[in-house]
Amino acid sequence: MKNLNAIILAAGEGTRMKSRLPKVLHKICGKTMIERVLNTAFETGAEKICVVTGHKHEMVQEAVKDMGADFVVQEKQLGTGHAVMQAEKFIDENKDVLVLYGDTPLITSATLKKLVEFHRKEDNGVSIISAVVENSEGYGHIIRDKNGAFVKNVEYKDATSEEKEVKEINSGIYVFKGKSLKYALSKINNNNAQGEYYLPDALEIILSNGEKVNAMATDDETEFFGVNNRIQLADVSHILRKKINENHMQNGVTIINPETTFIDDDVEIGMDTIIYPGCVIEGNTKIGEGCTVGPNCRLTDMEIAPDVTIQYTVAMESTIGSGTKVGPFAYIRPNCHVGENIKVGDFVELKNSTIGNGTKISHLTYVGDTDAGEGINFGCGTVTVNYDGKKKYRTTIEDDVFIGCNANLVAPVTLKKGSYVAAGSTITKEVPEDALAVARQRQINLDGWVKKH
Ligand code: UD1
Ligand code: CA
Repeated sequence: MKNLNAIILAAGEGTRMKSRLPKVLHKICGKTMIERVLNTAFETGAEKICVVTGHKHEMVQEAVKDMGADFVVQEKQLGTGHAVMQAEKFIDENKDVLVLYGDTPLITSATLKKLVEFHRKEDNGVSIISAVVENSEGYGHIIRDKNGAFVKNVEYKDATSEEKEVKEINSGIYVFKGKSLKYALSKINNNNAQGEYYLPDALEIILSNGEKVNAMATDDETEFFGVNNRIQLADVSHILRKKINENHMQNGVTIINPETTFIDDDVEIGMDTIIYPGCVIEGNTKIGEGCTVGPNCRLTDMEIAPDVTIQYTVAMESTIGSGTKVGPFAYIRPNCHVGENIKVGDFVELKNSTIGNGTKISHLTYVGDTDAGEGINFGCGTVTVNYDGKKKYRTTIEDDVFIGCNANLVAPVTLKKGSYVAAGSTITKEVPEDALAVARQRQINLDGWVKKH
């Protein structure tokens, strides 16, 4: 949309969150609330966005400094009207201005576009989104005349008992003509129950200036649920999570129990993948088609090819090739490239390593800082000894190497193609191609020793 700017109010302390973080930096499905609202405003087409910060403004600004918004600081939180006054310089008389709240993170660009279209079609001075709700306590109430025309907004604390009965409420989301907003800001005062400068007073001011004011009813009131405490934080996360899960299910992903499946909204999942309960799938994770994920996996920024099975596993910032089976109880740390048709079994930890196709790492093994080729067998209890207390070193294992159980590979070291390592060996030197390395003491048997002692 053209000729549109936005102001996002995010100065409030959020006392009821009981937090060291400013409220808008709390996360919903992996992203901070302020980041979500900024994204939505940009998606709607806002050219310039001004964020009104106050409480811990340095932290808020630092968190979203790369998103392309401007900031102003509201030193004292004297009300929503006062907050918008701080952004006065930013208001362009000839453009429309959206006003959004940083603690109302579920609003969508589809709804905002509808609001701006409604506003422009009706040629209103200001348009808001309203909703009819069961419990309207605490909200601004929309007062209409007998013919249903908009009269004013009354804040709950200022409402008469009759006005308190009204069920149509102000969502707190507005679009103004820049010129009308500037006019209203010059008139808003704080003569009310809370001694605050109320932004909703702008509605009545603009109306009495001879312009049109109206409310667009919404069909999905969950979009403007605000977050004031941790209970609402959980409620809002739940609503978004449900939408994300439903979206994947619509696209052909089976989610066995959506209630215990937590997927961030940038995650991509292919058709016919099955997600078992207890999975947390975060960040920019991409999962291919036909995978089986879970139960109980935490996957962060992972790239997983089709037909992978991964269960009871924590994995991050790594890639896994198709047909590979991981877990139960594997731990894949950053910068691993696990190839195709590999087995990464129980109690295996991988870190900063490349594993070639068809290799088996079946149990109780640590592979760190290693370049491993194809068709390797890691015996149970193999350890790449990559750290001498000061520095990290790499291990190189070429194709078709067989490592017996309980071997230490002291890096830097190379096992050449097709070589064998005897069980229980501690390897400190290169093993040549096709050689057997035995690096342990030979067994001796002392006959009759037990009876003598
Ligand atoms: C506001 C509206 C109410 C509406 C409701 C919808 C007013 C007076 N009332 O009430 O009509 O139904 O939202 O949720 O606007 N903020 C600042 N600086 C301030 C005060 C607030 O930046 O000085 C920010 C807050 O951080 C928050 C937002 O503005 O993000 C809303 O403020 P809040 O005090 O929560 O308003 P409500 O009482 O919920
Ligand atoms: Ca609020």
